[in-house]
Amino acid sequence: MTVPATSAFAHVPAYAGDPILSLMEDFQHDPRPNKVSLSVGLYFDEQGRLPVLQAIRRAEEQLAQNIVPCGYLPMEGAAGYRAAVQKLVFGAEREAVNSGRIATLQTLGGSGALKVGADFLKRYFPHAGVWVSDPTWENHVAMFEGAGLTVHTYPYYDGATGTLRFNAMLAAIRALPRGSIVLLHACCHNPTGVDLSRQQWQALIPALIEGGLIPFVDMAYQGFGDGLDEDAWPVRALADAGAQCFIGNSFSKNFSLYGERCGALHVVCASANTAQTVLGQLKATVRRNYSSPPTHGQRLVTTVLQADELLALWRQELTTMRERMKAMRGALHAALQQRLPERDLSYFITQRGMFSYTGLSAAQVDELRDRDAIYLVRSGRLCVTGLNASNVAQTAAAMARVMGQ
Ligand code: LMR
Repeated sequence: MTVPATSAFAHVPAYAGDPILSLMEDFQHDPRPNKVSLSVGLYFDEQGRLPVLQAIRRAEEQLAQNIVPCGYLPMEGAAGYRAAVQKLVFGAEREAVNSGRIATLQTLGGSGALKVGADFLKRYFPHAGVWVSDPTWENHVAMFEGAGLTVHTYPYYDGATGTLRFNAMLAAIRALPRGSIVLLHACCHNPTGVDLSRQQWQALIPALIEGGLIPFVDMAYQGFGDGLDEDAWPVRALADAGAQCFIGNSFSKNFSLYGERCGALHVVCASANTAQTVLGQLKATVRRNYSSPPTHGQRLVTTVLQADELLALWRQELTTMRERMKAMRGALHAALQQRLPERDLSYFITQRGMFSYTGLSAAQVDELRDRDAIYLVRSGRLCVTGLNASNVAQTAAAMARVMGQ
């Protein structure tokens, strides 16, 4: 055997690691028994386990009764899944759905929707800039830049008050060149947990339409804010107002189906004809990327969405998850407030979804990890689902210590 004397890959730099996913790996290797994972956006139950939802268990049982061959799905995904997901996202009896002017594609999770959408946009709007909230999910920037687009930020979060800089956001969006792509979060903003109110959406939507902008709404947490329909409200309002827009949705979190990579990309068009044309080019984009999506996860989701009883069970389970997240926010807030009575910490309870933007610095986050085995993202983002009755007091004590320094 001949081992090459020099490496052909000497110019390839080492990967610095993903700011979120690397923490998951570090956490798994941490031997300390009292460690607490508050970094990656995974929903854990009160026992600290990743749940298998009952609705999914029942769907698995049904599918096991009827094992089918695993052929290639069409490039755009399974028809039943696409129709069921469109209904879930946009509502059953909506004009945009009934008139067939939404091109819906099954994707590899919400990230797959972003990737296919970004590639499509680069091809047909090659000079458009992408504008994301400051801050946003780190991978939004990486994915749009990876597709060859230039990414900028618009004002969003006010670190001093823990609130939304809505006036500055609206002014910045009003000033964008026509054809710019504006990335928005439908609900449970990642990483801040700070969302627009309905009234604010009602002011933003006409600005997007009149400005000739292309909204791209990421909905990764439908059902984790106020409910399935409530959280989809901004998406439905955009479609109802006649916005031509991109919507990505994910079932990773709300079905606890992370590894199945279930999501969808929806492009709301002006007519059913255009939607068909757009769908065709989305299929071509898929073919160039990974050819066709996987089969099993979409069968599970479709089975639940198509059966009234399973759908009701899933809604109930989602309510339980949502209420647990709210309870954990409340418990952390109460314990922190008790230790730091002079501080206004109300943002811990007004933020929504899985994430809380704590305001902790990277140095404070490092101290929590090194000294207390408590893992947050270095931006100060805390995932509330890693909290439970047995670790919330310990977490609050450590956080109060670093916050009080
Ligand atoms: C997160 O933000 O933690 C999740 O969306 C997981 C991920 O892929 O980053």
